[in-house]
Amino acid sequence: MSEALIAEPKQAAGEVVLEARDLERHYEIGRSGLFAQAATVKALRGASFSLRAGETLAVVGESGCGKSTLARLVTMIEEPTAGSLKIDGIDVATATAAERRQLRRAVQIVFQDPYGSLNPRQKVGTMLEEPLKINTSDDAATRRRKAMEMLERVGLRREHYERYPHMFSGGQRQRIAIARALMLRPRILVLDEPVSALDVSIQAQVLNILAKLQEEFGLAYLFISHDLSVVKHVADQVMVMYLGRPVEEGPREEIFENPRHPYTRALLSATPVADPNRRRERIQLKGELPSPISPPSGCSFHPRCPLCFEPCPVDRPELLPHGRARVACHAVTD
Ligand SMILES: Nc1ncnc2c1ncn2[C@@H]1O[C@H](COP(=O)(O)OP(=O)(O)O)[C@@H](O)[C@H]1O
Ligand code: SF4
Ligand SMILES: [Mg+2]
Repeated sequence: MSEALIAEPKQAAGEVVLEARDLERHYEIGRSGLFAQAATVKALRGASFSLRAGETLAVVGESGCGKSTLARLVTMIEEPTAGSLKIDGIDVATATAAERRQLRRAVQIVFQDPYGSLNPRQKVGTMLEEPLKINTSDDAATRRRKAMEMLERVGLRREHYERYPHMFSGGQRQRIAIARALMLRPRILVLDEPVSALDVSIQAQVLNILAKLQEEFGLAYLFISHDLSVVKHVADQVMVMYLGRPVEEGPREEIFENPRHPYTRALLSATPVADPNRRRERIQLKGELPSPISPPSGCSFHPRCPLCFEPCPVDRPELLPHGRARVACHAVTD
């Protein structure tokens, strides 16, 4: 079989490639000051979801709700405090050393900052070939050819191989970061706010490239964003997070056309709509996002919720099926 990237087989679309169950991640922090006390930041407090080949699961929520923490768990940069994670059917917690190496290759990440994530002293070609050098027995000529092919796939040119990151724009740098992430042919790409630092005009180009690559390689995307107008273009499934927990999840159309959770509605009401006849009433949230050190009791959203009623400060609502979505809210009955 040819070693060319293009000749490698595609994955079966729809196959579950990642399963997270009740994932939690806590951080112990020391507080400074006279009466210093240690505290626990509960960054993630129970996230369950599945990711399928060829599909995009978008994770949305305000800054600080645990999105990047989730990204670090899924990419095995950090270990969960509790819960389980299966990648390609293998439980990460009980995987052998060889399996962990294989899983690390299967999940790659692209970060938000295209200026900070590339080594300024490395040429693009060196950067793209590094993962092959470390993880494969490819010879120099093969590595070079694969790097060249990948440059073209992300919409760059072969002559860019010899250049340094500072010679590229933000959008081009993000293409380089994507190319590097794909060199080992992962099954899953975690995209942590991949276009948030880019101009709106450039965002669409990078999103189009991502869509094309997803199709070509049958990739599963965990697409993290605080921006629902971006999510609307890319997601198959949407998971809305609040203070470390999913509060609503389901197919994109269901979440955008029939949002049920008051927090999802508030997020959507703050998103501009193109059609002036469909202008939404703006729902203002009360107060600030509470600290994940001491999240509110019952429904964590209750201090800010316009619909809060008796059970909310006491009983935590479970994520239950409503229509084609799952929602954690006592006020949702349909
Ligand atoms: N290493 C860490 N130590 C302590 N607190 C952390 C650490 N990483 C994240 N946090 C805290 O966990 C919460 C979630 O952070 P993060 O996952 O970065 O949220 P997001 O990506 O949604 O903005 C925040 O309150 C953040 O300050
Ligand atoms: S459970 Fe209560 S406080 Fe929480 S979102 Fe629903 S109505 Fe609001
Ligand atoms: Mg983040």
